[in-house]
Amino acid sequence: MTWPAPIAPAALGPTLSASFGEARTLPPEAYLSDEVFAWEREHFFEGSWVCLGRADRLKEPGDQKAFRIGSEGVLLVRGKDEALRGFFNACRHRGHELLETGAFVNRRAVKCPYHAWVFGLEGRLAGAPRFGDVPGFDKADYPLIEARVVEWRGWVFVNASGEAPEFSEYVGNLDELIAPWEPERLFVAAGHDYVIAANWKTITENYHECYHCPTIHPALCAVTPPDSGESFPPDGAWVGGNMELRGSAETMSMTGESKGVRIRGLDDRQAREVYYVGLFPNLLISLHPDYVMTHRFDPEGPGESKVECLWLFPPEAKQRPDFDPSYASDFWDVTNREDWMACESVQRGLGSRGMRRGPFASSEDEVRAFQALVADGYRTGRVGTPPQVRAQPALS
Ligand code: FES
Ligand SMILES: [Fe+2]
Repeated sequence: MTWPAPIAPAALGPTLSASFGEARTLPPEAYLSDEVFAWEREHFFEGSWVCLGRADRLKEPGDQKAFRIGSEGVLLVRGKDEALRGFFNACRHRGHELLETGAFVNRRAVKCPYHAWVFGLEGRLAGAPRFGDVPGFDKADYPLIEARVVEWRGWVFVNASGEAPEFSEYVGNLDELIAPWEPERLFVAAGHDYVIAANWKTITENYHECYHCPTIHPALCAVTPPDSGESFPPDGAWVGGNMELRGSAETMSMTGESKGVRIRGLDDRQAREVYYVGLFPNLLISLHPDYVMTHRFDPEGPGESKVECLWLFPPEAKQRPDFDPSYASDFWDVTNREDWMACESVQRGLGSRGMRRGPFASSEDEVRAFQALVADGYRTGRVGTPPQVRAQPALS
């Protein structure tokens, strides 16, 4: 392990300052440097619990899909016992990948495409062609190597390094916060993929403040007052807060009208608010009265990020004869594109000779908490509850 990150420790002090007025944004190299990006991939992505998407995409026994997390490859496999397992994507013979990254198959076994070794869905080696004459060879000695995988509320997470805290500790009180929406019972009704010329942290920071809403999001401000809401006190590796809906709006849509149904577990207050939470490092969850939107990142480089945006609805919505998820996805696609333009502009500005580190507005307290979490991670190697929040439990 190489700690700290390739950023001068003194440069992190202003981001970790306990004084709100004296705190400054992260240094530009955090968004621009190839070395910092490589370090983040190893320590923030391979080293944390990274979201790989919805678990229902691997629902049937025999479903298999290969992913890359940083520089690591992991194969997810649904077993006959319905458990989801992760295996490092390297054959126990001579290391060929068991499945190409991004590929999906449904098979009764895992079969290496190189010399056709066959593994059971639970990882045991079941067949090795023409190894019968190899002295001392015992199939029991060559199972696939398991990676840490958890399913949480309908999403799949992997910790490639094996060194992150237990998931329940990592996610902390976010579980309790989002429980009323029961994300595990929602289905994906719409999705958009974006490629954004901006650092993954710029996208996260933009998500965590509405200081920019009056200037770039007219449609959003028509349904939610941009200065409403408060930040939550996290006890885990997340940051978030809520915003209120205007009296005339049922949800976030172009007209404020919902074409879905209210999620069954919400109380009257939750049905008048939208919650915005970001679980480090790559999942943003936006909880609406009638749907849940997620943004999941896959960083490609310091200045390029892939983002998958999904809209999830409760099963009851399908019973509405006029149900059509586009009332939600069209609204957010407009807002997303406004945000991506801003993020790409910030990324260009970060590379300017005239770039200097700026202060935070009081409505950017979640950006400050996120940046402090990142700066603390650069310095100590621990990613958990944002240090500014730990120091100031009164944030709520
Ligand atoms: S590398 Fe997989 S069977 Fe040879
Ligand atoms: Fe925005």
